[in-house]
Amino acid sequence: MSIKAAITAVGAYLPEFKLTNKVLETMVDTSDEWITTRTGIKERRILKEKGAGVSTMGIKAAQQVLDKRGISPKDIEVVIFCTVTPDMPVANTAAYVISEMGMTNAFGYDLQAACSGFLFGLTTGAQYIESGRYKKVLIVSGDKMSSIIDYTDRTTCVIFGDGCGAVLLEPNEEGLGMQDSILRSDGVGRQFLNIKAGGSMYPPSKESVELGQHFVHQEGQQVFKFAVTNMAEVSAQIMERNNLVSDDVAWLVPHQANKRIIDATAKRMGLEASKVMLNIDRYGNTTNGTLPLCLWDYEDRLKKGDNLILAAFGGGFTWGAVYLKWAI
Ligand code: UT7
Repeated sequence: MSIKAAITAVGAYLPEFKLTNKVLETMVDTSDEWITTRTGIKERRILKEKGAGVSTMGIKAAQQVLDKRGISPKDIEVVIFCTVTPDMPVANTAAYVISEMGMTNAFGYDLQAACSGFLFGLTTGAQYIESGRYKKVLIVSGDKMSSIIDYTDRTTCVIFGDGCGAVLLEPNEEGLGMQDSILRSDGVGRQFLNIKAGGSMYPPSKESVELGQHFVHQEGQQVFKFAVTNMAEVSAQIMERNNLVSDDVAWLVPHQANKRIIDATAKRMGLEASKVMLNIDRYGNTTNGTLPLCLWDYEDRLKKGDNLILAAFGGGFTWGAVYLKWAI
């Protein structure tokens, strides 16, 4: 049997501070009722410590993975850090995690695929394992969204939160682990969800700061239309091409952007709500963090051999689905 790449440990870190809908009501013109019915979110976590970046959360999530698996940092060979909020532009966040944690035998890099980052990172990491050349690949995935959100913009500040997860990929010879993936990208979406300034096209300037162009801009309805269609489509497609019917799927692990998008995806797959991982109410949209945080939250309910479909949609646009058999 060929070597498959399986998740063998899951870790996570969530900042302690909870920003509730009630508090947001005092900050912008919104209501708990609007946020709950339109998105499903009740509260989100915010990383408050001065000087703390996404690596602060990533290191804690990665340490939990090492502790749970009982291995040393020196055992790790590859680190892929999926994020849209690296500690700094240019300086690689994965490299910092590697040196801070003493992963002296590892190389690593950051991967930016917006909210689909974990799926793209998982698929990339699996290739290292399946090639037979690497035995321990760490995927760290999360964001400090509070660093790029304008807390006077009610269309975005109610949605996003901070958090980070991490998973270890190792070879599996029992046929468990990654089975299939469908990854998609379409630049038609970049006008609807972006940070306009601060990149090479519109470098930072006094004017760009004054215009708030370093914050996330989202045309929610436009993104919603693409997300709801494409996330459902790709999830149904991965089931079909692997001859899976709804009874075969133990869990849908959906990106937590909006409960309505999640419900539509589950409906298209013919899955009842009890098979759908959901934590958007507690963490909001943590961008690269949502999928590993779901796995971490639901880990004690997962059984070896369970069929999981992971699905995400994000800026760019990027989207995709992964089919894996749980191996722990
Ligand atoms: O994770 C990356 C991918 N992102 C997504 O998948 C997000 C996709 N989009 C969405 O989830 C939804 O579009 C949102 C949750 C962002 C917005 O929900 P919506 O149902 O699409 O609302 P809308 O943008 O159509 O706005 C409806 C109304 C507007 O008022 P009018 O024009 O009808 O008077 C908005 O100004 O709701 C207003 N509104 C708000 N009201 C209270 C917008 N934000 C708020 C708010 N509180 N926070």
